[in-house]
Amino acid sequence: MATTSKEIWIDGEFRPWADANVHVMTHTLHYGLGVFEGIRAYQGATGNVAVFRLAEHIDRLFDSAKVARMEIPFEPETLVKACLESIRVNDLKDCYLRPLAFYSDGEVGLGAVNPVRVSISSFPWGTYLGKDGLEKGIRAKISTLSRQHLGSNFLRAKICGQYTTSILAKREALREGYQEAIFLDSNGYCTEGTGENLFMIKDGVLKTPPERSAILPGITRNTVLTLARDHAEELGIEIREESFARDELLLADEVFLTGTAAEVTPIREVGGSTIGEGGRGPITTQLQKKYFDAVAGKIDKYRDWLAPVE
Ligand SMILES: Cc1ncc(COP(=O)(O)O)c(C=O)c1O
Repeated sequence: MATTSKEIWIDGEFRPWADANVHVMTHTLHYGLGVFEGIRAYQGATGNVAVFRLAEHIDRLFDSAKVARMEIPFEPETLVKACLESIRVNDLKDCYLRPLAFYSDGEVGLGAVNPVRVSISSFPWGTYLGKDGLEKGIRAKISTLSRQHLGSNFLRAKICGQYTTSILAKREALREGYQEAIFLDSNGYCTEGTGENLFMIKDGVLKTPPERSAILPGITRNTVLTLARDHAEELGIEIREESFARDELLLADEVFLTGTAAEVTPIREVGGSTIGEGGRGPITTQLQKKYFDAVAGKIDKYRDWLAPVE
């Protein structure tokens, strides 16, 4: 089903969804240098809608633009307000927001620096890896493609063109009957999914690859690490940001992915090997519940993470 809603914010104003178009000579369309974000808003327990960690997402958009040496022609506060306004204009409840900054048409060629345009689309988007996936876990495979090398990409940035590797890996996984792919880095360490961070649990130790490794340091990763650290005693776990190889992953008791789109999705199988008991493990279940409680505003301590759409 085609993604749609009523209006898109583009270059400072709202336009009907069908009219928010670009020229085929749009520079980013040819070469991929553009930056984007993926953000979710949730209707909370009280019926109010709030955007989850909006300021952090807009900060990351500006950080991505900084490393890409792109000048976004708006202040961060303007984009924060436009995100909230976009949900109101489209009359959305649970939804996804996609800010995008891209180079327009004008000159052609790699050296061209055309004007930067910005759009914010918002639309309803259900569970990325399926409701079943959230409850029972998904099947993932190790990608035949490696995660890009830290020396030739800016992996802390969400740069459009860097996602071609993710698309190819995702399509390979889907073709082979899996729901997601996991990238190893060039040294054989597990990094992340095509658009999610990776966690494993073994004997009460929760591990995720460190920020300095070949990953996007996800905002959901940070959220889950915070939830895990704040409830470590209750969960009976120790938390380590530490690299692990494929065999360690296969021997894990529990594995899960985190991301704005994927939320907290358990992995029950990796490339034909069953993980733990082959479902959603007990610690994953508890962390997933805390995550959904936090995004719905059910935990006072984490209310600061919510930007209400008033
Ligand atoms: C490559 C990659 N890794 C991880 C993530 C998860 O990041 P976040 O939790 O900020 O959505 C994303 C999604 O933005 C991503 O594109």
